[in-house]
Amino acid sequence: MAEYSAPRGTRDLLPSETPKWQYLESVFRDACALYGFEEIRTPTFEHTELFTRNLGETTDVVSKEMYTFKTKGDRELTLRPEGTAPTVRAYVQHNLGAAMPVNKLYYIARIFRYERPQAGRYREHTQLGVEAFGSEDPALDAEVISFAARFFDKVGITNYALKLNTIGCPNCRPNHRKALVEYVGDRLQDLCATCQDRFERNPLRMLDCKDERCKTALAGAPVMADYVCAECAAHFERVQKYLTEMEIPYALDHNLVRGFDYYTKTAFEFVSGELGAQNAIGGGGRYDNLVQEIGGAPTPAIGFGIGLDRLLLTLDALAVELPVDNPDIVFVAGMGESGHEAAIKIVSNLRDNGIAADMDYTGRSLKAQMKIANKLGARWAVIIGDDEIATSTVALRDMRSSEQHTVAMALLLDHIKQYSR
Ligand code: HAM
Repeated sequence: MAEYSAPRGTRDLLPSETPKWQYLESVFRDACALYGFEEIRTPTFEHTELFTRNLGETTDVVSKEMYTFKTKGDRELTLRPEGTAPTVRAYVQHNLGAAMPVNKLYYIARIFRYERPQAGRYREHTQLGVEAFGSEDPALDAEVISFAARFFDKVGITNYALKLNTIGCPNCRPNHRKALVEYVGDRLQDLCATCQDRFERNPLRMLDCKDERCKTALAGAPVMADYVCAECAAHFERVQKYLTEMEIPYALDHNLVRGFDYYTKTAFEFVSGELGAQNAIGGGGRYDNLVQEIGGAPTPAIGFGIGLDRLLLTLDALAVELPVDNPDIVFVAGMGESGHEAAIKIVSNLRDNGIAADMDYTGRSLKAQMKIANKLGARWAVIIGDDEIATSTVALRDMRSSEQHTVAMALLLDHIKQYSR
């Protein structure tokens, strides 16, 4: 057992795993290009107030899960527990809205939450996120949601469900809140301790509780959709119309409230049956007031975050083979000292010509070097020793067919290029 191990809730991604991550990241980047989203990279940590003031004081993330620390200068910073507030902060700070009426941004970011680790829940996870600023058109909601759905289709998630809800706006939400509080009334003692607390501080979040007692007690609770104002209702209807036109299946879920207070109108979540309790593989919604709350001009916006870690777990559970291919590598095996010297030159020359190449640096026998070539999945092995040097040739072995030919050194490059396809 090693003396040190990665902190609880974090993981090392080893070379055997990273190709899958790189593949999914590249599919996501390609999709972003297709939908017109540009990359933004924000710092790993922000001033703590950005999160405490804008995500909702009573949310689990702010009240329990932030990694907050003091700097030597006595400022409080927090490792980002989500990607939306930092993106909005950057959007406002750099006045991106002035240059373009609609800004569509994406990020691939590590996110930090001090949660109890379990399958699919980590203290450090990665999100593929998009945020679109500058339009309240419900077509943009449909675009963002369909983007996520098509992305899941593309990578091979066949069994996801899209849950959709409207959570209204500051005009209509108080009506629902009042009705909800009245409904709970003397049922309060039937709720779990957390929900009794939520009842006081943030009643909407009771609807999202996974505790069976709360689910039963709140089964007939008033639903937001019945209380939304005409504007929110019309918006929601249009979102649904566009999704139907785009043939994106969805299910209305009146209890979907999401984990942050910044959301308005459309809220959505993608769930997969493969993940047990942590079944959300992505989620997002509109946040039409957040830009203004963070100090910008009033700017409607909508976005989502997809959990890359959970996406991979789901793909594994579905036994989806990702098309991760290694480059055709050439392994150069030198025999003896002069063979080793020659191998150094050949490897360097191959690389200079854009061909992936490697060699042994531990003085192993030819047999052992061929084993390494096999382990590396080499496409070709080039073997060189005193005899080959004397005749300016190399032995070129096709590792797939095990056929071996003598090739003039000067023609090696052409040979590999010609037959690698
Ligand atoms: P969120 O629902 O908190 O939303 O997180 C988005 C996704 O990140 C989740 O659906 C899940 O797949 C993944 N995730 C969350 N926590 C963990 C964890 N502890 N371990 C592994 N995966 C996790 C947001 O963060 C919003 N900022 C999304 C958004 C963007 N809304 C608008 N724009």
